[in-house]
Amino acid sequence: MTRRAIDETLARYRAVRAQTVALAAPLAVDDQLAQSMPDASPTKWHLGHTTWFFEKMVLETFVSAYRPHRPDAAFTFNSYYESLGDRRPRAERSLSTRPTLDEAHAYRRAVDEAIAALSIDDAERALPRLEVGIQHEQQHQELVLTDVKSVLAPQGVAYVERTAERDAGTAPLRFEPFDGGLVEIGNAARDGFAFDNERPRHRVWLDPFAMGSRLVTAGEWLAFMEAGGYDDPALWLSDGWATKKAHGWRAPCYWRESPGGGWIEATMAGERAVVPSVPVCHVSYYEADAFARWSRARLPSEAEWEHALGGIAVGSNLLESGAFHPRAADAHAPIAQARGDAWEWTASPYAPYPRFVPFDGTLAEYNGKFMCNQFVLRGGSCFTPGSHLRPTYRNFFPPDARWQMSGVRLARWR
Ligand SMILES: [Fe+2]
Repeated sequence: MTRRAIDETLARYRAVRAQTVALAAPLAVDDQLAQSMPDASPTKWHLGHTTWFFEKMVLETFVSAYRPHRPDAAFTFNSYYESLGDRRPRAERSLSTRPTLDEAHAYRRAVDEAIAALSIDDAERALPRLEVGIQHEQQHQELVLTDVKSVLAPQGVAYVERTAERDAGTAPLRFEPFDGGLVEIGNAARDGFAFDNERPRHRVWLDPFAMGSRLVTAGEWLAFMEAGGYDDPALWLSDGWATKKAHGWRAPCYWRESPGGGWIEATMAGERAVVPSVPVCHVSYYEADAFARWSRARLPSEAEWEHALGGIAVGSNLLESGAFHPRAADAHAPIAQARGDAWEWTASPYAPYPRFVPFDGTLAEYNGKFMCNQFVLRGGSCFTPGSHLRPTYRNFFPPDARWQMSGVRLARWR
């Protein structure tokens, strides 16, 4: 049984590691070295950091004779682990010209070989850490895409060839009613992975509410813009209004006004006119909140989201679809786009669940210390690996973040 569990985990390890390399493959070397802003990291850094994670958390922890492959990896590729020593500040990651990109790939191969050579005893002890490392690498697969989009999109450069993208017309937005009451959310699975922040399962009281049947579309966002939504302080939170003014926001990230009228959107397949039926994406919490107020609605809480949408497993537009952009909603689905397409901002601050217990040891720094000044997003996106998502999955970003694949689903009181 244990041997089977080890074999299964190592098979997934190989597949996920290969997937990361495959995601970087369409990029030029120069694309992989650029850092567009302090929040985003070069592709080369993601390739190295995910490798350092396995080296530090698995090989150095469980293999007594293991010596690190590169002495500079700990400084260059440690992200935020205070307990693991000095590191290069996040805003300066592109300044690490060594390891080179080729050397970063050699580092990956060396660690992959050491993981493959784990003894049965070491692998068995390391199994929970290997699982965290696999899930961690999948998180960084999404970040490779969001971060490189922030490099390519302002240049109008494509990551993939455009596939057919019909403007299929917009399914009318309905609000599906839910009674609420005393419900349970959070992860209770005994087998199967969950991050510490998804646990424990616990009770929440929900007043009766209604949930939007699909994501907000770019066409609806255009109507918000044309109605002066970006110019009306009554719609905005104070912090949101100040942020909007400071950055000069007039539209979602990666939109620009066409000289001939209308709006152009930079997608992973290059620039094209905004498609009204496709979900809006790359909006901040502040913008999502203002849009909801303008719509005489609100953002759902994460408990409402999980109660209403957690049981809907259907989601075809995840990373594996290769679309790398949200798609128009299926008009026949009672509730569409519950998984994939675009992460959905919730009105819930990212905070610990009742009786939250962080991961042990070094990994206690993984989630818990970020539970301040951020909001929860649910549902995954077209950049999220399908096997990485769970109904209880909690993503989180600060309210001014726009470079993530973030969209909007509305809710209302009943
Ligand atoms: Fe990380």
